[in-house]
Amino acid sequence: MADLTFGETLGQLSNGSYNPWVESIFGYLKIIPIAYICRSWPGVTGLLNALIPAGIKEQRKTHMRFSKERVDKRMARKTDRPDIWTFVTRHSDAEGTGLAPTELLSNGTLFMLAGTETTASELSGLTYLLLRNPAQLERLIKEVRSAFSSFDDMTMTKLSQLEFLNACLEEGLRLYPPLAVGLPRTTPKGGAKVCGHWVAGGTTVQAPIYAASRSSSNWKDPEKFAPERFLPEGKQEYASDRKDSLNPFSFGPRNCLGKK
Ligand code: HEM
Repeated sequence: MADLTFGETLGQLSNGSYNPWVESIFGYLKIIPIAYICRSWPGVTGLLNALIPAGIKEQRKTHMRFSKERVDKRMARKTDRPDIWTFVTRHSDAEGTGLAPTELLSNGTLFMLAGTETTASELSGLTYLLLRNPAQLERLIKEVRSAFSSFDDMTMTKLSQLEFLNACLEEGLRLYPPLAVGLPRTTPKGGAKVCGHWVAGGTTVQAPIYAASRSSSNWKDPEKFAPERFLPEGKQEYASDRKDSLNPFSFGPRNCLGKK
């Protein structure tokens, strides 16, 4: 993500250790549910803030500091190799009509948060599920190894054509959604119809992703790792599955920008 966003790799795969910036993301993430609660009951903000362990608060600060350093460094560097920041800076002109420095920082932080732990969680979750299901793992290994003769052959386009691999990714996202909570949205002043129900204006609504993905109202054998539910061979057995309830990247105009 650091490479994609700021054009500079953190080298974590080559040195096998966590960069402190990435490490601090865990602390940052732990504050998010507390912020959710505070938004719903502003009266308890002071109490909850006092209860947050000092170590976690420190990690949040560290994360912001590293993000600021990266943003400043990238802003100072001219490059011909496009990265996400190339697009961000197009909207940060000096005349004051573009993104303010604080907005640049929050975008830098957002990209690192949104792209790192999500992808890593999905891959960890799926690896776990495959290890618990050796027959499925075997089938996946066969599919991958018979499709490619070398590592360089494994392009994004070719990988996206592997049916079983993609079914595994879908099933992994269902059982192990990296963003498990519901994402709050507020109804407009005059109220709105949500899922067939009239909801008063100013109400926060959300659809918890984990619950929807594991509910027996939506899925046959919801706890079972069954990638075949996403394949033609499982069409009959899993005909009752409500696939439209699977939205690990959220839904609507503000859904995940990294989904594809
Ligand atoms: C398995 C991987 C991922 C999952 C499950 C995931 C999930 C999500 C979800 C649920 C949201 C919606 C937040 C909302 O509605 O408020 C979101 C937003 C976002 N994601 Fe992802 N994400 C993943 C990977 C990525 C990657 C790789 C990137 C960057 C390339 C990325 C960038 C973003 C950004 C920028 C937003 C905010 C979009 C906006 O507010 O308009 N995500 N992601």
